[in-house]
Amino acid sequence: MRAKISGTGSALPDKIVTNDDLSKIVDTNDAWIRERTGIMERRVSDEGTATSDLAFIAAERALANAKVTAEEIDFILVATCSPDMLFPSVACILQDKLKAKNAACLDVSAACSGFNYALAVASSFIETGKYKKILLVGADELTKYLDWTDRGTCILFGDGAGAAVLTATDKNDGIIASWLKAEGILGNSLIMPGGGTRDPETKNGRFIKMDGKEVFKFAVRALETSVKEVLIQAGKSIADIDLLIPHQANIRIIDHVIKKMGLPKEKVYVNLQKYGNTSAASIPIALDEAYAAGKIKPGDLIVLSGFGAGLTYGANVIIW
Ligand SMILES: CC(C)(COP(=O)(O)OP(=O)(O)OC[C@H]1O[C@@H](n2cnc3c(N)ncnc32)[C@H](O)[C@@H]1OP(=O)(O)O)[C@@H](O)C(=O)NCCC(=O)NCCS
Repeated sequence: MRAKISGTGSALPDKIVTNDDLSKIVDTNDAWIRERTGIMERRVSDEGTATSDLAFIAAERALANAKVTAEEIDFILVATCSPDMLFPSVACILQDKLKAKNAACLDVSAACSGFNYALAVASSFIETGKYKKILLVGADELTKYLDWTDRGTCILFGDGAGAAVLTATDKNDGIIASWLKAEGILGNSLIMPGGGTRDPETKNGRFIKMDGKEVFKFAVRALETSVKEVLIQAGKSIADIDLLIPHQANIRIIDHVIKKMGLPKEKVYVNLQKYGNTSAASIPIALDEAYAAGKIKPGDLIVLSGFGAGLTYGANVIIW
């Protein structure tokens, strides 16, 4: 028994913030941001929209596409590092919104690697037969934790949510391999220090702090290593990949790695120019878009690879 993705959905806030918009509030410009990151614009949620609001829209779309009702869902996993509040979890808030009354609920905290982590957990639950229909959501609103005077971080992130419904399959498809890793020793290079028990009153600031160069070096290594390792587990090679969906952080990270791996650009899905880095939402949004655009066909070998705060990284191989 394996887990397969039976439907996907995504949700993005309406408000678009362009690079030119950012150049009016911080010392930056469109040419620099495009050249150094590939990002052209990002979506920003308004004050009244919390992570669970975007997660709800993405989840409803995924359920409709999978033709699964909310009541059939027996587990909800939400990958997020920007929950509505410390508790209850976004998964529980989402359960209530969806009226998915038969589900157990859990948030997965692995920042931008969250969707890959949650997918590995969810597929294991289905493989054991313990759960049958799992709703998996990656949702983040990191713009709410940005210092809009820090040009090293505020240009990179956007808000969004992506969802997938996992069901059981006994055919030759589904998630065939998962590989996860973390390097807590590098944790300080990407942190959101305020609001936790170390600093409940956020005296140290409630904004994301990042050593961009350190994270860039890690990201290049993480993307390459996770793809190679998960392919070994799957018994496949780079040449077998039909579509790679990498975490959408920076086009230079992606370009560098695929060139080194010898993977042609046509086999890599990129949408970061429109949304920036949407953290745990980036891979499921890209998956939903790629499927809707007809870039994924039955039997295709898809690799999802993510990296993020922790520092964490991981990948999954799917036969569609
Ligand atoms: C943040 C990042 C885009 C910076 O790019 P970079 O090429 O490393 O740029 P540097 O920090 O070396 O800065 C180069 C110059 O551009 C300047 N600069 C930095 N940000 C700028 C901006 N937004 N606009 C204009 N200039 C900027 C710097 O001050 C520096 O100027 P100097 O040479 O006069 O000192 C890049 O390091 C990165 O993407 N890192 C990974 C971040 C990431 O993906 N995080 C999430 C992981 S999930």
